[in-house]
Amino acid sequence: MAAATLGQVWARKLLPVPWLLCGSKRCVSSIFKAADLQIQMTKEPQKKPAPSQALLFGKTFTDHMLMVEWNNKAGWGPPRIQPFQNLTLHPACSGLHYSLQLFEGLKAYKGGDQQVRLFRPWLNMDRMLRSARRLCLPELLECIRQLIEVDKDWVPDGNGTSLYVRPVLIGNEPSLGVGMVTQALLYVILCPVGSYFPGDSMTPVSLLADPSFVRAWIGGVGDCKLGGNYGPTVAVQREAQKRGCEQVLWLYGPDHQLTEVGTMNIFVYWTHEDGVLELVTPPLNGVILPGVVRQSLLDLARTWGEFRVAERKVTMKELKRALEEGRVREVFGSGTACQVCPVHQILYEGKQLHIPTMENGPELILRFQKELKAIQYGASAHDWMFRV
Ligand SMILES: Cc1ncc(COP(=O)(O)O)c(C=O)c1O
Repeated sequence: MAAATLGQVWARKLLPVPWLLCGSKRCVSSIFKAADLQIQMTKEPQKKPAPSQALLFGKTFTDHMLMVEWNNKAGWGPPRIQPFQNLTLHPACSGLHYSLQLFEGLKAYKGGDQQVRLFRPWLNMDRMLRSARRLCLPELLECIRQLIEVDKDWVPDGNGTSLYVRPVLIGNEPSLGVGMVTQALLYVILCPVGSYFPGDSMTPVSLLADPSFVRAWIGGVGDCKLGGNYGPTVAVQREAQKRGCEQVLWLYGPDHQLTEVGTMNIFVYWTHEDGVLELVTPPLNGVILPGVVRQSLLDLARTWGEFRVAERKVTMKELKRALEEGRVREVFGSGTACQVCPVHQILYEGKQLHIPTMENGPELILRFQKELKAIQYGASAHDWMFRV
């Protein structure tokens, strides 16, 4: 794409989303303050899951939620921690009709010292800010901290368990017009979640790589965590399963660039064709979600300084050739849910490509898992962790 066109694309992407505009026409309460937080405790606390109970992702919720309302006359209302409850929405709610919605996902871990800590929450606040363009997120983080404090007995402490934190911002316009909203809801809910890989054994996944399905494109919104990016992927995921694969490897462009795996970023650990051992992941060019775990793996690998760490385009042609020449060591996805997930097979152009990730240890994956666990559950302070 020509530089000028790319410039226009970026200029457009940087426009603020309507409900967060803070121009001269509406300068009401453009921030909310954690100091104004109102706390209403539930009168009906739910039974917490037993440590032995398997926790399905996103099915069990804690007793409380954070809620902040916005409208264009009064601005942000006071943040409230309130009993977990259903929402009452106008049937024309724009969040439902037009996907005027964005969300985040992060985790809190209980350390060996029983202290609960969030993993790099500033990166999620930053990404939410980029998704929403304008919000007072430091205050949101403090409100989330207080919400987790209220529900801290819900944080499980078994091996690999955590509390999943889901902030959501929805346009709440009671009108069918497609346009700027004058009302919005920001809320945060919490789910205790079990270990992604039960026991300590890692299960590799198989992928369908079919270029006829596209998740995101240059000039689109694939780099934002908008609900609209996810709903349409469910049918593709089902198609992958029909063809005997567990997840989708999202390809992009005529050269079939690898972009993401399901809802994870992708990494290849190989000897590059120039003979150098490297860890490579696609660059943040607008089609990739800037994952917090992606950033963390890059940060860790760069600190080790033991191999080249690159953010560069990788095509299926390059991967196929590297497989034929025996240069590929490990392929894996990264994300908050599983942290690091090995890939052992890719179905591409009617052929099963075997990836020797598991045969190679997987040395790098296990090292990343170990380092991340030590930071997340560690009793010692680490500047990636935010104490609750
Ligand atoms: C499309 C997509 N890519 C990558 C990721 C990984 O991001 P993170 O490491 O912040 O969980 C996610 C998960 O949220 C995702 O939905």
